[in-house]
Amino acid sequence: MPIKILMVCLGNICRSPLAEGILASKLPKKKFTVDSAGTGSWHIGHQPDERSIAIAKNNKIDISQQKGHQFTASDFDAFDYIYVMDNSNYWDVIQLADNQAQTEKVQLILNELFPDENVDVPDPYFGMPNGFDSVYKMLDEACDVIAKKLIEKHSI
Ligand code: 4NP
Repeated sequence: MPIKILMVCLGNICRSPLAEGILASKLPKKKFTVDSAGTGSWHIGHQPDERSIAIAKNNKIDISQQKGHQFTASDFDAFDYIYVMDNSNYWDVIQLADNQAQTEKVQLILNELFPDENVDVPDPYFGMPNGFDSVYKMLDEACDVIAKKLIEKHSI
């Protein structure tokens, strides 16, 4: 059984599709699967935002085939690790948890870089185009740490 990781943001078109593509590019495919979801329902079935597709493509990652879906309570059991992009995603997700074990699966992704600081990945959706560059860099650094930890933990 592969280890399953879920990346979560609000819309599932800007940040979490990037996080999915970046982390998947750093992990061996046989052992790990990476997916993403939004807490909101607006973009179910949609392709990622064109600005996320473009910044990923500049970094040789293709996220254009991803399709948006909404986070549901069944994802707590479907995934082993759940990374959220910001504090608002965190509260939206843990509201759906039934027990402590499910709550503990949920981590703020930038706590991998800045432990316990609870820093948000800013939502670039309404911002300037260069917001996507800085989001990409943050996610790339966080995913380096996550990939290293997961590979060590699952001893590959
Ligand atoms: P994301 O950004 O959470 O990084 O995908 C957003 C995209 C769309 C919306 C909100 C946030 N929206 O309201 O449609």
